[in-house]
Amino acid sequence: MNDSLIQKTTAFFQETFGNVPEKIVLSPGRINIIGEHVDYNDGFVLPAAIDKIICFAFEKSNTTTSKIVAIDLNQEFEVDLLQDIELSSTVWNNYILGVLKQLQDNGFEFSGVNCVFSSNIPVGSGLSSSAALECGFLFGLNELFDLKIKPIDIALMGQKAEHWVGINCGIMDQFASVHGLENKVIKLDCNTLEFEYHNADFKDYALVLLDSNVKHSLFTSAYNKRREECEEGLAIIKANFPEIKSFRNCTEAQLLTLKDKMDIVVFTRVLYVVKEIARVSKACEALDAGNIELLGKLLFENHDGLSKEYEVSCPELDYLVDLALADEAVIGSRLMGGGFGGCTITFIKKGKEEAVKQKFAQLYQEKWNIELKIYDVKIGNGTSLYNAN
Ligand code: GLA
Repeated sequence: MNDSLIQKTTAFFQETFGNVPEKIVLSPGRINIIGEHVDYNDGFVLPAAIDKIICFAFEKSNTTTSKIVAIDLNQEFEVDLLQDIELSSTVWNNYILGVLKQLQDNGFEFSGVNCVFSSNIPVGSGLSSSAALECGFLFGLNELFDLKIKPIDIALMGQKAEHWVGINCGIMDQFASVHGLENKVIKLDCNTLEFEYHNADFKDYALVLLDSNVKHSLFTSAYNKRREECEEGLAIIKANFPEIKSFRNCTEAQLLTLKDKMDIVVFTRVLYVVKEIARVSKACEALDAGNIELLGKLLFENHDGLSKEYEVSCPELDYLVDLALADEAVIGSRLMGGGFGGCTITFIKKGKEEAVKQKFAQLYQEKWNIELKIYDVKIGNGTSLYNAN
């Protein structure tokens, strides 16, 4: 699947610029097993890179101007590094511009590039195509100009580029895109950025992504609002329990004593956060122990919290999880990523996948008159150079 993407991108580069690309970079999307909306709350997350990628082909332009071509969109734009970098009205341009701005703001010496890219990561499905775009583009410039940026800083600068575009995201997506490893999930401590790899062995269960095919335009403002609500809640926790430095040190019992001191919405958000941070550790232990049934149960619990406490679900996603709850062949399912649309991550008993997929697709179509998209993903490597030889 990715071979044809790489061939297409390389051929397009040659047709456009008349040269063989100097560098080819592959940058993946990500899944997240559990740990949702806790990366910006000093929690733990359990993501992995996937075998859906963006392929970039690059050369130096030897001028101060960069030309970037998005093959799939049939769009291109140019940017002159001598001019101030400003937000564009074309969203995808901003991820590239955000990376260039990060490099400039951090004093790196580089000049223009010619770049084409093409992707098989579904956009707006919660698989972090934007993180793949930022990290892959930055990785390519790092290689071309020998900037010596470390992987962790590629992730952090990618995150800052996303902030510049307008979403105050955590570090999970960029971290997973950069640090992914085949067949491993990453347990990332979002406070210290320490991480460890755990085997992604789901035993008798297949991991399937069910794409609700809905995207909500209020995503950015709702996401940023959640972050503010959590900050407000944490400030109240700290004021009452000075020994608590972050959500992970706060117990549910301590939080309950503060119920009257917080706005009810803020209380409900932070209650979710405290419970979810504890859930991730349990889930990782269940995975290591091969107890995928328990892992699945924790996924269902997580969805319930995301839907009722954190309120980032939508009726279509809730419906998919309800179907999963009612089906014996499915042991866990939850919305994945920021929410308000996108995919559920779902574990289905091996051998029953096709029947479940067919049934869910039909029921979903009947209920919402929307096609359910289904992705079987493999856990793959992080952003890397492609070497044809
Ligand atoms: C988006 C953000 C991440 C993370 C998730 C929710 O994907 O980019 O940083 O907060 O939502 O877990």
